[in-house]
Amino acid sequence: MFATLERQSQQQPVIPRDLFGAIAELKQELNAVILAHYYQDPDLQDVADYIGDSLGLAQAAANTDADVIVFLGVHFMAETAKILNPHKQVLLPDLAAGCSLADSCPPDRFAAFKAAHPNHMVISYINCSAAIKAMSDVICTSANAVAIVKQVPANRPIIFAPDRNLGRYVMQQTGREMLLWQGSCMVHEIFSERKLVELKQKYPDAQIVAHPECEPNVLRHAEFIGSTTALLKYVQTSPCKSFIVVTEPGVIHQMQKASPGKQLIPAPPEHDCACNQCPHMRLNTLEKLYLAMKNRSPEIVMDEAIRQAALVPIQRMLDMSK
Ligand code: 13P
Ligand code: SF4
Repeated sequence: MFATLERQSQQQPVIPRDLFGAIAELKQELNAVILAHYYQDPDLQDVADYIGDSLGLAQAAANTDADVIVFLGVHFMAETAKILNPHKQVLLPDLAAGCSLADSCPPDRFAAFKAAHPNHMVISYINCSAAIKAMSDVICTSANAVAIVKQVPANRPIIFAPDRNLGRYVMQQTGREMLLWQGSCMVHEIFSERKLVELKQKYPDAQIVAHPECEPNVLRHAEFIGSTTALLKYVQTSPCKSFIVVTEPGVIHQMQKASPGKQLIPAPPEHDCACNQCPHMRLNTLEKLYLAMKNRSPEIVMDEAIRQAALVPIQRMLDMSK
């Protein structure tokens, strides 16, 4: 009986009371950097060394001299950090933190799609697996997709994958026809146009700011469209005092810090649920972060041939975004 109890207590990880202090100590010990996306829980954003959008995070990962990268985001983001840093350990507190958009583009089906359109340039949104990146000519994020498509010679046909909503938005902005993979994000698809219009009627002075992963019927109401970093900067610098924010509401934490006097209203999803929160992003917690750093696990491990092939279009994106 006692032995069983003892064994159990040995197996239970001990979570310190002062998690913030314990994480700070482990960071020193590991010479680690903590990178977080804006869609993480506010507590997680508060322990990060750098908080950014997907482009900023990829740039931060490319430039860090830390020995260990702790990624507070989803799998494709941590994987990108590993592709850029094969000799560093990249930790992700919950390896199950995936992405519905990345999952909407299975490599075997995409390979067949690409083979059916052989003369096309493949531009893939960073929200995809390493296997898709390895089949791409250049990667983009929501921050640089328009600029990257504009750099493609006019006579070169383009496949854009996997997000059809971002793809449509880029087509509008550039006037370029593109062949779109029909993927989408479960979070940005959930916003209700009807409820957004009602909210705007209630707050007529509020400006609508939206992420380009939203559907066109929602985007057409937006006064400003951009990546999470672009939305944050817009709210900060605009003279307007009130905003309806149409993206994952995690970003409101940094908006509120940067613009304390402003009113920030999260856009409502179709149903009375919290489904505008990304269920994948929100799998990471402070406790899992502590345990990942303590145990130096779970970490991102990759096939070296895929890593090398995926590095080429990521590096091209970073070079094209300077
Ligand atoms: P950005 O980080 O480019 O704003 O994209 C948001 C997103 O959905 C990340 O998964
Ligand atoms: Fe993927 Fe959408 Fe979540 Fe971003 S918000 S990680 S695109 S499911």
